[in-house]
Amino acid sequence: GQCQLFVFSSSFNSGYPQPKMSGSSDDTRNCTATPPYLPPTAIDTTERLRILRHHMQSHNLSAYIIPATDAHMSEYIAERDKRLAWMTGFTGSSGTGVVTLQKAALFTDSRYWIQAERQMDCNWELQKSGWISAIGQWLVKEVPEGEKIGLDPYLFSIDNWDSYLQALDGSNRTLVALDDNLVDLVWGSQRPLPPTNTIYQLPDDFIGSTWQEKVSHIRTQMENHSGKPTAVLLSGLEETAWLFNLRGDDIPYTPVFYAYTLLTKTSISLFVNQSRLSGDASQALAAGCPGPLCVTVVDYEAISESLRIYVQQDGVHIWIGTEYTTLALYREIPPEKRLEENYSPVMIAKASKNAKEQELMRAAHVRDAIAVIRYLVWLEKMVPSGSVDEISGANFVNQLRREELFCHGPSFETISASGLNAALAHYSPSNTTSRKLTVDEMYLLDSGGQYLDGTTDITRTVQWGEPTALQKEAYTRVLMGNIDLSRLVFPPRTSGRMVEVLARRPLWEVGLNYGHGTGHGIGNFLSVHEWPVGFQSNNVPLDKGMFTSIEPGYYLEGEFGIRLEDVALVVEAQTKYPVHEEPYLTFEVVSLVPYARNLIDINLLSQEQIQYINSYYESIRKYIGPELQRRHLDEEYQWLQRNTQPLSRSSLLAASLGTLAMGTVASTLLPGA
Ligand SMILES: *[C@@H]1O[C@H](CO)[C@@H](O)[C@H](O)[C@H]1NC(C)=O
Ligand SMILES: *[C@@H]1O[C@H](CO)[C@@H](O)[C@H](O)[C@H]1NC(C)=O
Ligand SMILES: *[C@@H]1O[C@H](CO)[C@@H](O)[C@H](O)[C@H]1NC(C)=O
Ligand SMILES: *[C@@H]1O[C@H](CO)[C@@H](O)[C@H](O)[C@H]1NC(C)=O
Ligand SMILES: *[C@@H]1O[C@H](CO)[C@@H](O)[C@H](O)[C@H]1NC(C)=O
Ligand SMILES: *[C@@H]1O[C@H](CO)[C@@H](O)[C@H](O)[C@H]1NC(C)=O
Repeated sequence: GQCQLFVFSSSFNSGYPQPKMSGSSDDTRNCTATPPYLPPTAIDTTERLRILRHHMQSHNLSAYIIPATDAHMSEYIAERDKRLAWMTGFTGSSGTGVVTLQKAALFTDSRYWIQAERQMDCNWELQKSGWISAIGQWLVKEVPEGEKIGLDPYLFSIDNWDSYLQALDGSNRTLVALDDNLVDLVWGSQRPLPPTNTIYQLPDDFIGSTWQEKVSHIRTQMENHSGKPTAVLLSGLEETAWLFNLRGDDIPYTPVFYAYTLLTKTSISLFVNQSRLSGDASQALAAGCPGPLCVTVVDYEAISESLRIYVQQDGVHIWIGTEYTTLALYREIPPEKRLEENYSPVMIAKASKNAKEQELMRAAHVRDAIAVIRYLVWLEKMVPSGSVDEISGANFVNQLRREELFCHGPSFETISASGLNAALAHYSPSNTTSRKLTVDEMYLLDSGGQYLDGTTDITRTVQWGEPTALQKEAYTRVLMGNIDLSRLVFPPRTSGRMVEVLARRPLWEVGLNYGHGTGHGIGNFLSVHEWPVGFQSNNVPLDKGMFTSIEPGYYLEGEFGIRLEDVALVVEAQTKYPVHEEPYLTFEVVSLVPYARNLIDINLLSQEQIQYINSYYESIRKYIGPELQRRHLDEEYQWLQRNTQPLSRSSLLAASLGTLAMGTVASTLLPGA
C-alpha cells in the first residue's frame, strides 16, 4: 500500500499527477463566492477556532501548531488523537494545522488537496506543501517578531522539533512547549475516551521468540554498546507490542495498544493501563518476578514522572531513537544522560525476522493469495455485467480475507480504483467518488490483511477488455522494474536507496516515472508500513531476514494508474564465485498472485525476465495450487493453471492471435487462452 511515509527525491509532489479540480464543482468549497459556497462534506469550525484562540491568548501565544500524529508517532491513529481532523474537518492522514489569532492554515501535500477543499470551511486556507520549511516561512510572515508559537511536546518527535527550530532559526519567534494540549481543551468532553479493549498475548504458535529472549537480546546490545546505556526507552507502539508478544486493538489497521517501555539492565517497566491486560498476559509478564525478568506494570500516564525519577540516579544513560521519541520525554532526560540514535535497538531487532517469523509470514501470504485470487476470479465473472463498483469490490475482497484463517481484518484502507481514480495517489473509494468497474477501464487493487502470523500488502492491476498500446507498454515496464529489482543480487547491507533505480529504469528509458517510494518494510501481525526498512535514504541497509515491499507504478492523470506490488524477503544468494566474508543477498518474493497476462508485452521482456516470471509462476503453482485443490476451489484452480502457464514468445503470439479471433470480452474470460 502506498503511504504517507513515501517520499521520492526532495519533494512530496514530484512526479505525482496534479489533481485536476474537475468534476462536479459543488463538492468542493468556493471561498471567493459571496456568500462562500460550502459543500455538505465541509465542517463548520468557527466556534472551535474562537475557543482555541481564546486559549492561545491566555497563554500569550500568537500561533499554535496542530500535527496529525499521536504521542507515539503512529501512522494510523485512534479517534481520540484525531485532533487535526476535529479542528479542521480535514481527515487525510498527512497534514499540519497552524492557527494564528487572525488566520488558520492547513499544510498538506498534493495527494490531499482535493480532499481538503471538500472537507474544510472557509476559516481555513490550504497551503499546498507538507514541508516544515514551508510552515516556518508562513509563520515568519504571519507572526510578529518577538512573539510565541505554541505546541504540544508529546506530539513532536525530537527530529521534527529540530526541523521547526531550524525553520525558525534567527527569526526572533519562539517555540513554546505547553503542558496543556489546547485542542483537547476545546474538544473537552466530546473527545473520545482512551480505549479499554483487552490487550492479549500472541499465541505461542505465532511468536518468533519469547519476550524473555527478546529482552535478553536487547540487554546484550546494551552491554555491547560503546555509549554504555543503562536503559532503553521505547516510544513506538510496535516496539512494545513486539518486545512482549502482546497485541491490542487501539488503532485501526495496526494491532497495537497505547504503551511505553523502560527497559534497564535489571528491571522492566511497562507503562500501560494494567486492567486492560488479559489474565494470561498479566501472568506471563509476572512469571519472572522478582528478578531481572520481572515486568512491572505502571500507569501509562506515569511515563514522564518515572523517567524523571530514573534519571536522578548517577551514571544512568538512556538509549533513545530520535524518530520516535517525543520532545516531552526527551526533555526529561538531561543531555549527558542521553544516548541518541535514529532508532532504538528494538526497532532494529524487529526489522530482521528469524526463521520462525519468516515461515509465519510465508504462511500468511499463501492464505492471502487465495483471497486475492478468489477476488480476481469473481471480478472476471461479475465485471462484464456491470454489477461491481469500487466500494462493493473493496468490501468483497475484505470479506474474502476475513474468511481466511487467523485474519484480523485489513492492514490498511483498501485502495480499489477504476480508470482515472487509480491515477490519484492515495485514493480510496468513497460514496461520492466510487466508479463502476468496466471491461473498458484498468482497475487497480492495493490491499492487505492482518493475520496472526503475518501482515500482507499486495497490488495488482488488471484490464478485462482490450488495453491501449500505452497501457500495455506501461504495465510491462512497471513489471520489468519489479522483476529487475526482485532478482537483484547484492552485497550484504546495501542501502535500498542505492538499488531502487532498477525498479525505475525500464520506465525512465522511455520518459516515464512514478512519484512515490519503491517499497517499505512490513511486520509480523504489526504495521503494514514498518520502519526502518525500505528503499529511501533514511531507511536502514538491507539485510538477511528483512521483508520489504517492491512496488513500482505508473500513473497518467485523468486516465489510468498501474502499480505492481509484492512483498519480498531478503535471503542469501548463490553466486557463481565464492564470497569470502558474508554471502551476497537477493529477494524471495512471498506474494503469490499471477500478473495480468493480457497486459504483458512479451517482446519488451528479456530472456532473464521471462525466466524469472516462469520460475515465479512455478512457485505460485507449487504453494497455491495444492491449497486451492484441498479446498475444492476448482474454478480458482483452473484459473491459476491458465494464468501461470509459462511465458514464451511463441505462446504469447498464439494468445494474441486468439484474442483477435475471439473478440475482446470472450478472450478476457479465458485469459490464459
Ligand atoms: C467561485 O465563485 C466565483 C464567484 O461566484 C466564481 O467566479 C468562480 O469561478 C468560482 N470558482 C470555482 C472554482 O468554482
Ligand atoms: C502573558 O503575558 C502577560 C503580560 O506580559 C503576563 O502577565 C502573563 O503572566 C503571561 N501569561 C502567561 C501564561 O505566560
Ligand atoms: C525580538 O523582537 C522584539 C519585538 O520586536 C524586540 O524587542 C527584540 O529586540 C527582538 N530581539 C532580537 C534579538 O532581535
Ligand atoms: C559487539 O560489538 C562488536 C563491535 O561493535 C561486534 O563486532 C559484535 O558482533 C557485537 N556483539 C554482539 C553480541 O552484538
Ligand atoms: C483502564 O482500563 C479500564 C478498563 O479495563 C477502564 O475502565 C479505565 O477507565 C482505564 N483507565 C484509564 C486511566 O484509562
Ligand atoms: C455510503 O452509501 C452506503 C449505501 O448507500 C451507506 O450505507 C453509507 O452510510 C454511505 N457512507 C457515507 C460515508 O455516506
